[in-house]
Amino acid sequence: MGRPRILILGGTGEGAAIARALGGRAEVTSSLAGRTKRPAALAGEVRSGGFGGVEGLARYLGEQRIDRLIDATHPFAARISANAREAAERADVPRLAVERPMWRRQPGDRWICVADAAAAARALPDLPDAVFLTLGPGDLDAFAGLGGRRFVLRRIDPGPSPLAGAEVVLARGPFDLAGERRLFEDYGVGTLVTRASGGAATEAKIAAARERGVPVVMIRRPPAEPGPRVSSVEAAVAWALNSAGSGSS
Ligand SMILES: NC(=O)c1ccc[n+]([C@@H]2O[C@H](COP(=O)([O-])OP(=O)(O)OC[C@H]3O[C@@H](n4cnc5c(N)ncnc54)[C@H](OP(=O)(O)O)[C@@H]3O)[C@@H](O)[C@H]2O)c1
Repeated sequence: MGRPRILILGGTGEGAAIARALGGRAEVTSSLAGRTKRPAALAGEVRSGGFGGVEGLARYLGEQRIDRLIDATHPFAARISANAREAAERADVPRLAVERPMWRRQPGDRWICVADAAAAARALPDLPDAVFLTLGPGDLDAFAGLGGRRFVLRRIDPGPSPLAGAEVVLARGPFDLAGERRLFEDYGVGTLVTRASGGAATEAKIAAARERGVPVVMIRRPPAEPGPRVSSVEAAVAWALNSAGSGSS
């Protein structure tokens, strides 16, 4: 048998690392939604843009003779993960989800856990400026009506601010603690609003908030799709290369 044909649903550091680690041992295609104008270079083939829902993805899996599907998308990218589960079932292609480990709460953390961006916005009146919003563009509308607040946003692509009046910091992760300390200091960050994304690449902001006693409004993760999952790049690579392997739930 030739090298396995692996489709990685990515747009994340984990997706990039799996593609890199598989190297020449598999025929790898990484799929990106196409949201970022200049995505970082990836090992193997890259395709960009939606598939057209479950049906489109199931068709793609068949047409491209994909042997295995790895869902390494962001923990908050719930729709594509649901589509991946259903399409893999329809096309009878084994699927593995890569679950990013959640951050651990530590002494000194002041987390206020909420269900969604609207609830995060409702929590703000009692919390100090400036408010550092590390959220996706789709979450920002919830903060648009809060006049008189100072917001700081971090984005990859330049362009008009998606939240009127917000100060924009252009940067691409991973972010280290020294850089996050500087950002909190320079912008006088008094509150951090973040999704409970977890993972090492963006954990430094949580440590910076802890050090400064800054409260963190933490938006809970959507529930993961049922089915096999692993929590490391190494385990995903082993699954991709092992014809008998499977993830653990
Ligand atoms: N959510 C975040 O905060 C976040 C952060 C970092 C990276 N990302 C990455 O950005 C992408 C989009 O996130 P989202 O929250 O907008 O996702 P989403 O709401 O779950 O997906 C919306 C639609 O975008 C398309 N799509 C999403 N991921 C795709 C992929 N990897 N390849 C091809 N099409 C994809 C699919 O369109 P069709 O139905 O037409 O196939 C999907 O139905 C994801 O790949 C995710 O890993 C997201």
